[in-house]
Amino acid sequence: MFSIMTTTDEATQNIGRQLAKLVSAGDVILLDGDLGAGKTTLTKGLAAGLGIKRYVKSPTFTIIREYKEGRLPLYHMDVYRLENGGGDELGLDEYFNGQGVSVVEWSQFVEGELPEQRLTIHLKRNEANIDQRTLTFDPQGAHYQKLVEKLEAQRNE
Ligand SMILES: Nc1ncnc2c1ncn2[C@@H]1O[C@H](COP(=O)(O)OP(=O)(O)O)[C@@H](O)[C@H]1O
Ligand SMILES: [Mg+2]
Repeated sequence: MFSIMTTTDEATQNIGRQLAKLVSAGDVILLDGDLGAGKTTLTKGLAAGLGIKRYVKSPTFTIIREYKEGRLPLYHMDVYRLENGGGDELGLDEYFNGQGVSVVEWSQFVEGELPEQRLTIHLKRNEANIDQRTLTFDPQGAHYQKLVEKLEAQRNE
């Protein structure tokens, strides 16, 4: 598995910007990590890379925010509030099969609704440095494996 370490908020956003060059319609990205791990920060970079200028705010209360002004629509979901169920009533499928890129924070709470093929990015804080994060890319399926290979190549350029 491919990992990247960052030591600033901006560096994590930059990974999102790089990812934005590689994503296509219907892509599903799951962001896995604790509160403050950098899930929303990464999403901000992805949005910026897609050309979305609007402020990207955590959809904690709304569950889903849609941004349509970029190269591709961005569907940003934070399903933390569905910890006790209810995710089956949201019609998440329509987003996952839609023309945009879906990014899901706390996806474990809607596990039953998720597509099998997806890119999971694990974000982990490190003990040694409060600003240090390790991002690990875990692709499921050939499409996402290729995407991660391209990201790796892009970073080595
Ligand atoms: N290397 C880093 N990567 C991402 N965020 C960082 C980093 N260092 C510090 N931070 C800070 O950590 C916090 C991450 O918050 P956020 O992205 O909202 O997390 P989450 O969505 O996972 O709860 C922000 O305040 C951000 O500025
Ligand atoms: Mg968040």
